[in-house]
Amino acid sequence: MLKAIILIGGPQKGTRFRPLSLDTPKPLFPVAGRPLIAHHIEACVQVKELREILIIGFYPQTQMEGFVSDMQALYSSSNINIRYLQEFTSLGTAGGMYHFRDQIRAGNPRAFFVLNGDVCADFPLQELYSFHMERPASALVTIMSTEATRQQSLHYGCLVFDRASGAVSHYVEKPSSYVSTYINCGVYVCSMDIFTKLAQIFHAKCEEYSCISYSNGNGNGNGKDHGHIKWEQEVLTPLAGTDMLFAMPVPNWWSQMKTAGSAIYANRHYLDLYKRTHPERLANVGNKRGEGDGNLICTVYPDVYVHPSATVHHSAVLGPNVAIGPGVTIGPGVRIRESIVLEQAQIKDHTLILHSIVGRGCTIGAWTRVEGTPSDPDPNKPFAKMENPPLFNNEGKLNPSITILGCFVQIPAEKILLNSIVLPHKELSRSFKNEIIL
Ligand code: GDD
Ligand code: GTP
Repeated sequence: MLKAIILIGGPQKGTRFRPLSLDTPKPLFPVAGRPLIAHHIEACVQVKELREILIIGFYPQTQMEGFVSDMQALYSSSNINIRYLQEFTSLGTAGGMYHFRDQIRAGNPRAFFVLNGDVCADFPLQELYSFHMERPASALVTIMSTEATRQQSLHYGCLVFDRASGAVSHYVEKPSSYVSTYINCGVYVCSMDIFTKLAQIFHAKCEEYSCISYSNGNGNGNGKDHGHIKWEQEVLTPLAGTDMLFAMPVPNWWSQMKTAGSAIYANRHYLDLYKRTHPERLANVGNKRGEGDGNLICTVYPDVYVHPSATVHHSAVLGPNVAIGPGVTIGPGVRIRESIVLEQAQIKDHTLILHSIVGRGCTIGAWTRVEGTPSDPDPNKPFAKMENPPLFNNEGKLNPSITILGCFVQIPAEKILLNSIVLPHKELSRSFKNEIIL
């Protein structure tokens, strides 16, 4: 039996994803018509022996329960249990795993997967597991690894490993100078003995803290809980060079999802994956709507996802790379490309939407133009990943990026909105360019 853990962090995380994460927790943001971590769950469910998926984070239970029960219902026939375990405070990338060790060990799994909730990929979980089982018995962790450019590798965990055996000799988390172009994808297989290591780390920290701050409550001096453990720095780094840490390099598509711009990129790749995994979800074939009654909708340039409850006028033109959420209304003559439109938004006649994310319940008037700047990886650089640039450049100006409308934004007819970010519930009265509208 196998299990999987999905690490999703909590409300203080995902700040670069604002304003989209203001009303929906980032792990539930819909990409290609499915909440981000539903794609992780979908990949886990494909693994033959997998029986339980534990989502670990510090979002309140109330924000996750609807999603968890939806997933339970979806996979009820495949005998897979899906649960959300809430950390009482941020415990870091390994603290939650240690805190909930009894739940993870229950039922005696042979091993478990750990997936960062903020990555998107064509997850090769079965291969990763087989690779791990073929390593020596000492192997505690196998990391899924991919290649990045020299310059981009500095933003990730970097690893040096033997190409023949996969043994990792050196692991540095976000190094300040070049270490390796092989990076950590935030996807792992762990043997159950990892808990012995985690226990050693936990007890060593408790002793250290009790010396420093025995009398000042449960803080450890830097405001973090005793149980806070950093998986990368405190577990992976010391495991390197001990024949307990291995890496499997994979050529599959993989990306982090940190900024809203990366959601459009992830959307394109998940839509593309559907061609292989779920062609019925796409609205490509014969210009028919995916997943539903097969009504003729409109002209579609692949790949496009349209939720069955959306209403699209037959003269609208969608795609490529467009996802339309539940209950959306799209009027005559509308053109949408490289964009995500979230539930219940209304796009009035002849409006144009390019490289943008339109939040839940937005209304966009007729003959309006909403346009952002694409932020894809540099196609001329092999292995380039998405850049996640800061919001502002050195001169304090907004970096050109996709246009984002928070939930329930209203834009009147005949306006132009370029490279802008609009916070939720704003009613715009004029056109804007390169602005954050607070
Ligand atoms: N449950 C829980 N509790 N999850 C957490 C916590 C926490 O306190 N802190 C972070 N996470 C989750 C995040 O939601 C995310 O899914 C994952 O753990 C890693 O988060 P970060 O700490 O933001 O790390 P990172 O994304 O900058 O880097 C990690 O991922 C890269 C690949 O995307 C590292 O593992 C890098 O080495 C790796 O290259
Ligand atoms: P190039 O990018 O130079 O090839 O031109 P384009 O015609 O593709 O322009 P653009 O990328 O701006 O527009 C993408 C699509 O939207 C095209 O199919 C246009 O016909 C269509 N389009 C452009 N402006 C509008 C508009 O104001 N309203 C509507 N309904 N469609 C538009």
